[in-house]
Amino acid sequence: MNAITPKKLFIRTYGCQMNVYDSERMSESLTDAGYTAVDTPDEADLVLLNTCHIREKAAEKVYSELGRMRKLAEEKATRGETMRVGVTGCVAQAEGEEIVRRQPLVDLVVGPQAYHRLPAMLDALDAGQGAQVETDFPAEDKFAALPKRARRASPSAFLSVQEGCDKFCAFCVVPYTRGAEFSRPVAQVMTEARRLAESGVREVTLLGQNVNAYHGEDDGGTATLASLARQIAQIDGIERIRYTTSHPNDMDDDLIAAHGDLPELMPYLHLPVQSGSDRILKAMNRKHTADSYLKLIDRIRAARPDMAMSGDFIVGFPGETDADFEDTLALIDAVGYAQAFSFKYSPRPGTPAASSEQVPEPVKEERLVRLNDLLRVHQIRFQDSCVGRVLPVMFEKTGREPGQLTGRSPYLQPVHVYAPDNMIRQIVPVRIDATFPNSLSGTLIEETA
Ligand code: SAH
Ligand code: SF4
Ligand code: F3S
Repeated sequence: MNAITPKKLFIRTYGCQMNVYDSERMSESLTDAGYTAVDTPDEADLVLLNTCHIREKAAEKVYSELGRMRKLAEEKATRGETMRVGVTGCVAQAEGEEIVRRQPLVDLVVGPQAYHRLPAMLDALDAGQGAQVETDFPAEDKFAALPKRARRASPSAFLSVQEGCDKFCAFCVVPYTRGAEFSRPVAQVMTEARRLAESGVREVTLLGQNVNAYHGEDDGGTATLASLARQIAQIDGIERIRYTTSHPNDMDDDLIAAHGDLPELMPYLHLPVQSGSDRILKAMNRKHTADSYLKLIDRIRAARPDMAMSGDFIVGFPGETDADFEDTLALIDAVGYAQAFSFKYSPRPGTPAASSEQVPEPVKEERLVRLNDLLRVHQIRFQDSCVGRVLPVMFEKTGREPGQLTGRSPYLQPVHVYAPDNMIRQIVPVRIDATFPNSLSGTLIEETA
């Protein structure tokens, strides 16, 4: 190892779970290259900002953070210290060289498909080669090339199985920043899942921008997400399986059936619909209607009656009228979401909808407030419906109050319970006593079985 290689690494992660997973993998790969992770940029010799490009605000955050990093680097320079700064993730992919032009402090720009190249890029910096930019979609498989999974403290882990998207919704940058849809082969996923189980993981969340479109190579054939989940469920120690994010059009019969008969598959499904207006769905290039979405949910609930639904909504997409917006509110009432995420439409460079006439900001603002009010009503209704029920809770960590642990219900709600520390990683029945907007509290009960 080169003597001047910096050794302390700080990664700040923005955006979706896939970035969280990628940050972990980068950290592991750089640990192998001699770095240790630290908790603040002040201590770090190498800072990576793992960025998100999904909305304008997300992308702009990066430049303000880079401004702060510049000040920090200048302060460090007065003490004779150096700090390298890299931008990874979807802003890196979308803006490439432009980032170095706008903020010359940046030493590294690495797109999501090139993380296995990081150690070599750092060596190139050490060799005095100047800022390194890598935003190709290289042929190598970044997952195969990254090192194996490290031992973990948490009983819950993300596992990326699919990446990229071929859907090209008219508002979305993901097909441009993450490239074409790609599924990891089953054998590779299984190896990683087994290693996670051996390191104490009991719940895996399978990740993909379009995870239910998974079609990984399996013994010469092709596996669906359902068949992958069935194989993962066989692994000793894995008790819970989740997956996110799904597209309504890829919710096949196989996967719906698995929700009925595979107990490891948790009854919480994030299935973004974006809008309840068919006119807007068409303009968004979503290729489903409000009605086909509602019928799909009926089929899912027929297989798994207690399925808790989650979704994403965009308000103020170009051309959205009051009537279109009312259709979205009606769809929300028809579904009864347990949880949902809502966004004001944000025009993204290079996407089809960005050049259309925009809905005025105050209209977007007002619709977002109304949407959120309605979503909150449904969320509270769902939370309240849990009171008095006994739910299996997987304890993940110590809670806020001394003596408390925090775990997750099958429906992904955080649950606060007075329980001993040695129950972390266990899945135990808890009686739900009280609800809060975003969590539950309950008490341990004796197993009756
Ligand atoms: N692959 C997932 C989600 C990807 S992005 C899916 O198909 O649903 C996460 C969410 O961000 C989207 O569901 C959408 O609601 C929101 N989003 C994406 N682009 C956006 C934009 N330009 N403006 C506002 N919200 C956006
Ligand atoms: Fe973006 Fe999801 Fe549409 Fe793909 S399916 S373009 S990731 S919103
Ligand atoms: Fe953001 Fe990229 Fe994820 S744009 S939401 S980090 S795929």
